[in-house]
Amino acid sequence: MSAVISTLPDDASKSETYQSVMRDLKAVLDGEGNRVARMATTVCLLTQAFPAWFWTGFYVVDEVKKSQGEDELVVGPYNGTLGCLRIAFSRGVCGAAARERKTQIVPDVHAFPGHIACDSRSNSEIVVPVFDANGSLIAVFDVDSEALGAFDAEDRDGLEAIMKSVFATD
Ligand code: SME
Repeated sequence: MSAVISTLPDDASKSETYQSVMRDLKAVLDGEGNRVARMATTVCLLTQAFPAWFWTGFYVVDEVKKSQGEDELVVGPYNGTLGCLRIAFSRGVCGAAARERKTQIVPDVHAFPGHIACDSRSNSEIVVPVFDANGSLIAVFDVDSEALGAFDAEDRDGLEAIMKSVFATD
């Protein structure tokens, strides 16, 4: 298994790292249709590639709530300290990404109105919407950092490409 996980030089750029993780995910997940397995494996390979990330994981669209006319996310596979279990689309950075179907880059979470502090050590955050092959929102992918301003357009492009490659194919 570990044979398919690429080793990158210490000076690899973020975009090279994202491309390498995307290649590894394609290889590891080939033929695996289970969405939880795909999410857990995505969290695993990304956190191995970016060890400085503080919290990394998915909040999944709750299909039961959706059928009752409510828009709510429920926590999915993640790596990090205890995450909030549920987030309404009306709340937080995750809610904004789900509502607007658009990546949110927050350089200072303390300046973001409505930010949900699952862990006060988080200082910056990126949340990427995740779509299936039909363009339906299935989840958001959330990364938190203890550093301020940890995420930029390179992270957005890299993570959006990975989410598309892993989840817009089923
Ligand atoms: N900060 C997020 C909540 C999720 S945690 O960071 C794990 C938000 O404001 O939506």
